[in-house]
Amino acid sequence: MSKKKQTLTTSAGIPVADNQNSLTAGPRGPLLVQDWQLFEKHAHFNRERIPERVVHAKGSAAFGTFKVTGDITQYSKAKVFQPGTETDVLLRFSTVAGERGAADAERDVRGFALKFYTEQGNWDLVGNNTPVFFVRDPYKFPDFIRTQKRDPRSNMRSATHMWDFWSLSPESLHQVTILMSDRGLPKSYRHMNGYGSHTYSFINANNERFWVKFHFKTRQGIECLTDGEAGEIVGGDRESHQRDLFNAIENKDFPTWRVCVQIMPEAEAENTPYNPFDLTKVWPHGDYPLIEIGELTLNRNPENYFAEVEQASFSPANVVPGISHSPDKMLQFRIFSYADAHRYRLGVNYESLPVNLPRCPVHGYHRDGQMRFDGNGGGSVNYEPNSFGGPVEDPAFKEPPLNISGDADRYDHREGNDDYTQAGDLFRLMTPEQQERLFGNIARAMDGVPEEIVRRQLEHFEKADPAYAAGVAKALGLSR
Ligand code: NDP
Ligand code: HEM
Repeated sequence: MSKKKQTLTTSAGIPVADNQNSLTAGPRGPLLVQDWQLFEKHAHFNRERIPERVVHAKGSAAFGTFKVTGDITQYSKAKVFQPGTETDVLLRFSTVAGERGAADAERDVRGFALKFYTEQGNWDLVGNNTPVFFVRDPYKFPDFIRTQKRDPRSNMRSATHMWDFWSLSPESLHQVTILMSDRGLPKSYRHMNGYGSHTYSFINANNERFWVKFHFKTRQGIECLTDGEAGEIVGGDRESHQRDLFNAIENKDFPTWRVCVQIMPEAEAENTPYNPFDLTKVWPHGDYPLIEIGELTLNRNPENYFAEVEQASFSPANVVPGISHSPDKMLQFRIFSYADAHRYRLGVNYESLPVNLPRCPVHGYHRDGQMRFDGNGGGSVNYEPNSFGGPVEDPAFKEPPLNISGDADRYDHREGNDDYTQAGDLFRLMTPEQQERLFGNIARAMDGVPEEIVRRQLEHFEKADPAYAAGVAKALGLSR
């Protein structure tokens, strides 16, 4: 409070004499165009909003640390996994469908996007709070998302569109079952798990490849809301998740997650009864047990939401030596999609923004572009190869070859895929009370949906487990 007062300036640094009264001809006006300080103030204000994320627009984030407690150096040579290593992280949580001002306590998948500022560059693991997804081919992603967003005519969200799409896309059943279960409505971001969801790969010092899935198990315990509880919360507080996370960290009640992986030797992928690169499937724990590798703790709130959260960019393309991608076609497309979105949303130099800037040196030949606000490489050479000591490639970081074969074609991704067993397994592991809530949640979510669509969806529940279909039909008051 007793801080020495600073003089207000324009963005050009020129002292401002009056920030209260506009410049007018006489006390009654009109305004003078000469009042450029007033015009600058409004011109900047008019340009304050940037495009929101096309999905996952509403979110909250915090900084923290990933500490390695286990030893997985036999699977990955990544520096970030060296025993005892501590790495700074940024974790952004989000809901998927709502716009930037949407309420937090809504039934939806939650995003769980991590940026690890490693000494070998930024590793982004852009996951969700569910281990699977609604579709398995990237062709279907925009269609799916449109069913979650607003109807073009009514400008309202449409249960009919959602269930129409899901009932015509059986691969969605596993994720729909999670979404409609207790875990589809977490109490807060602290009380849910995170998953990398896709299969990724590890590469060890001998250049051997392993397939890997990432799991983040909340130490706060899983806690969820019923639809009724959420309705009451939203009535009083639209920012319940943001408030919970922000206050917990301000009060030094730092949330933590146990970090685990499942590992599959490279050759085993040929022999699993399911496609291990299919994003609608999990790897059963019985076959691939969780290996605990570390702990993730959030301990610092961002100082400025726009600079550090709205401008944050996470991309599945960003993997570091020792961690890589897999043939999962959804993951493959995401490798393109995110940086494309960032260039549109934040501009071509988005990775130079402080929150996205690697904490290790960056040596490259990209130059210029809008809002280039660092030294732009100074006078250093801007082409390669060159004779002036510019950065060069290092084959030591080459990945082992990936054996790929097959005729190029558009293969029907629904053919020969079992969309029902794992969804049924999930249904069967729920207690009778959890199943009852699942039936009720689905019945409420189907309110107003034409019976033809409802009956088509009931067929899918039936194939997962007859008791699943019977329970939903009963909750809907439908005869089977
Ligand atoms: P397990 O009995 O070993 O594991 C069951 C898993 O289900 C646990 O990870 C548990 O999470 C999780 N779970 C419990 N209730 C829900 C829910 N409502 N929504 C989402 N997850 C839930 O079984 P399997 O590994 O053999 O898998 C059986 C089924 O469990 C799968 O078909 C899948 O639907 C679900 N599942 C499996 C996961 C996996 O990676 N294998 C991961 C998450 C779900 P927690 O331990 O945190 O309580
Ligand atoms: C955000 C595309 C599937 C998790 C986004 C964004 C795009 C996108 C364009 C906005 C990025 C931005 O503006 O910063 C896609 C496409 C997918 C896909 C094309 C499938 C082909 C998935 C899957 C997951 C996921 C399977 C989780 C496993 C997220 C998260 C965010 C996000 C968490 C928010 C990131 C943040 O906090 O900034 N997605 N997505 N997406 N997506 Fe996806």
